[in-house]
Amino acid sequence: MSESSSLQWGGRFASVPDAALLAFGSSLEEDLVLAPFDVRCSLAHVTALFGGGIITSESAKTLREALRRVASEIAEGSFAEHARATNAEDVHGAIDARVRDHAGEEGARLHAGRSRNDQVATTLALYVRNRAQHAADTAATTAALALAQARIALADGTLLAATTHWQPAQPILLAFWLAAVAESFLRAATRFDRVANDACAASPLGSGACSGSTLPLDREAAARELGFATPTRNALDAIGSRDLALDLVHAVARALGAASRASEEIVLWCTPAFGYARLDDAASTGSSLMPQKRNPDPFELVRAHAAAANGALAAALGTTTGIALSYHRDLQETKAIAIHAIERGLGALDAFASALGYVNYNHDAMTAHAGDGYTVATDIADSLIARGITARRAHELVGTLVTTAERAGRILDANDLDTLADAAGLARPLEAPLDALASVRAKRTIGSTHPDAIAHAIAELETVLAARERNTTV
Ligand code: ARG
Repeated sequence: MSESSSLQWGGRFASVPDAALLAFGSSLEEDLVLAPFDVRCSLAHVTALFGGGIITSESAKTLREALRRVASEIAEGSFAEHARATNAEDVHGAIDARVRDHAGEEGARLHAGRSRNDQVATTLALYVRNRAQHAADTAATTAALALAQARIALADGTLLAATTHWQPAQPILLAFWLAAVAESFLRAATRFDRVANDACAASPLGSGACSGSTLPLDREAAARELGFATPTRNALDAIGSRDLALDLVHAVARALGAASRASEEIVLWCTPAFGYARLDDAASTGSSLMPQKRNPDPFELVRAHAAAANGALAAALGTTTGIALSYHRDLQETKAIAIHAIERGLGALDAFASALGYVNYNHDAMTAHAGDGYTVATDIADSLIARGITARRAHELVGTLVTTAERAGRILDANDLDTLADAAGLARPLEAPLDALASVRAKRTIGSTHPDAIAHAIAELETVLAARERNTTV
């Protein structure tokens, strides 16, 4: 038990708190991750107190020293034990108690003009900023990795049958698929950057419980110290909003959604039936029973983490719905759900980034099957349309042709194009791609799977990523 009482409302109640209810009301374990951010927030509050002439410079010095000692205890890992030894409801109470352990009576000046309400909101904003920046970097790294793999796949000319409904659709280059993964992760990085920026906008510190303070706190100095552009405008909103944490959980769920979709495909590619990819031993697991197994666990886990993040988003949103403005204890649960989702989600995003690096794509298998299932049929229909046949008629004619070839168990060849030209009443020859490579080379639109279009897209994505890096490192 800490020397200083860690219940922050001791004076009001005569009887000791019910232990089970106290435990039920604790968010200490979930909050511990916030400890370093609370210390920064508390240091800034000292600035606000001193700046407002509320404490002397000696008191400020004592409080800062005590907070720095707490910071070292957090960094070296001993703080958690001290915190657990108190009956503090949360990490904020535990830090307050520890400051009093270190600074004695002077430590009791720290909480002047401050409520845990503005403390939680500010600490959470700092935490969200930190984690969003980390997630943005991970997402950008993942995009860069996918692009590096895309460059290799483009040079190798690896073809792939794009599917819709998991049915062979049209030939693409593997590089196109990888560049698509990069696109989704670039969007994820942008989303995370946005959340991080929003978490730099306005500091709730100095909002007090819900209406501001009669003490002349220097909110601007505190905001500056914490890297916020300005203090928040409305105390009631500032202490009751969990928008930043919700936005980050949303961004995590969305990024994991992108990861889960790529994972689904990789898992299937790694089956012997497909043989399109092989996961390096370093990222695979075996079976305790079946000696032959090679399981692509990281990608399966990423899928499940994505589902869990979606659930957490719904849960976190739920806890904020319908509660009146200002602080209500429900928001403690919002925080716990959000922190859990963010910590686990970021772990899963990191894991996806490293697992992706262990995928070896099988050029021959992918390329060999890129034309399976008559994936050039659409291009052949396009060739009729280009010669003036209506889309509907072209679809019908090629559909009939595919059915005939399918029945005979053969692929389409030049003779089929002659047959088509005749059936459509066109002069021969009818020019159309008959294999997967010819198909991708025949693509003409911006954003298509034509090799040149992919090269262009990769270069553009690389430029965007490089610009992002410059912006975030200045
Ligand atoms: N343990 C609370 C939380 O983490 C702290 C805020 C308490 N404020 C209050 N008025 N009870 O959300």
